[in-house]
Amino acid sequence: MFLKINNATKSFDNEFEVFSDLDLTIEENQFVSLLGPSGCGKSTLLSMVAGLESVTEGSIELDRQKITKAGPDRGMVFQQPSLFPWLNVKENVMFPIKKQKDAEERAEKFLKMVHLSRFQNNYTHELSGGMQQRVAIARALAMDPKVLLMDEPFGALDEQTRHILHEELMKIWQETQKTILFVTHSIQEAIKLSDRVVVMGTRPGRIIADFHIDIPRPRKRDDEEVIKLERKVMDLLEGEINKVLKEELSHEGIY
Ligand SMILES: Nc1ncnc2c1ncn2[C@@H]1O[C@H](COP(=O)(O)OP(=O)(O)OP(=O)(O)O)[C@@H](O)[C@H]1O
Ligand SMILES: [Mg+2]
Repeated sequence: MFLKINNATKSFDNEFEVFSDLDLTIEENQFVSLLGPSGCGKSTLLSMVAGLESVTEGSIELDRQKITKAGPDRGMVFQQPSLFPWLNVKENVMFPIKKQKDAEERAEKFLKMVHLSRFQNNYTHELSGGMQQRVAIARALAMDPKVLLMDEPFGALDEQTRHILHEELMKIWQETQKTILFVTHSIQEAIKLSDRVVVMGTRPGRIIADFHIDIPRPRKRDDEEVIKLERKVMDLLEGEINKVLKEELSHEGIY
């Protein structure tokens, strides 16, 4: 059990409880996706693993160490690449590891892995959205984290670029043997990439299903097993999303 979320409860200052008693255990090198309706707490959960948010009750352990704050053993990639515009590509990747002796070598190694060696001296505004996201992935990998936390990393990209980055991420994952916790709103993306798809429900946030997928990779969208699983997940999610909508509409006196 590499990453262990133990009876985690999270409430913010307003005492609003995002989730309570949440349990999730992830093995080393596993690729796990989190799917769930907007507001169910996916980003909050990732931030807690990253150590950017505290756990109200319960605990999170990584490699038998309790997580209490942010650290280089957890690399984070967000929906927006959040790069520094005044640094070039290589300097951006080096930024979190700049005190290490081999920072430059490491930056070059991971820029090569995401096929951006040619652009290492460019500034980020000279790159497309997909390329910027690859820089963000290289930056997270250069820290050599034990786990890579990705919060809708391809959510802002077009279908074609997304497809290319899926292939790249699969290769990187196989090459680096990282453990990946990946948040997405795309059922197809989750099923295409993951060993496990964890579906969350809301109000309160909780895990409603955990699918272990052993369909061989690369997975094709028109594969019968893929389609079957997609339907199953879609039915589950639809139920949860409708519940949220109903609650919101009834709150406004519409329903
Ligand atoms: N800093 C905060 N203070 C107060 N409430 C917060 C804070 N951050 C998140 N929340 C609340 O926690 C709940 C979960 O938010 P979170 O961002 O984790 O959802 P999500 O599942 O990532 O949603 P989405 O799919 O829209 O990104 C929401 O109701 C949100 O309003
Ligand atoms: Mg989110």
